Amino acid sequence: MDWQHAPLDHVIDEIVGIHHARIRETAALVRCSLRNANDRWGGPASPFERTRDTFETFWSDLDTHLFHEASRVFPAVRSFLDESPQVVATPAAILPMMLRMEAEHEDVLARLRQVRVACAACPVAPPAPEWAECAELVRRLADHLEAVVTMENGVLFPRAIALEHVGATPDAAL
Ligand SMILES: [Fe+2]
Repeated sequence: MDWQHAPLDHVIDEIVGIHHARIRETAALVRCSLRNANDRWGGPASPFERTRDTFETFWSDLDTHLFHEASRVFPAVRSFLDESPQVVATPAAILPMMLRMEAEHEDVLARLRQVRVACAACPVAPPAPEWAECAELVRRLADHLEAVVTMENGVLFPRAIALEHVGATPDAAL
């Protein structure tokens, strides 16, 4: 699919319906897997427990980010597509929203890198199978997250900002 030229509401549908859903699904598997690894190998202040805590912090941030996009940011973009005169007359909201979402992308990607580093340094030998499973699921989650960030930063946000500028012309704002 050529997302640069697809209708913008289809792009949003793809992001929420496919990418966000994939991320939530995989994150749930990671949590479950980390819990299993921690039950078997962990203990207070163990590397397993610290990795689980790092993941929980990452997930809390990402969950909030996904919710904010789905409930506030994407509806704002969709409202521009409706060409409602009231919405077009208030164009200032989109760019700051996109910049904030891009900054949050950097933050969650950095946090996930921390989780990956922790998973790569399995603290027991031979590596516990539960730990190998965690590492593989986290790798998969990183792929999903990078894919959606590429689509949002590279396709949706620039196109939404361009839409705002079209809507912001004096004629359109009247
Ligand atoms: Fe996002």
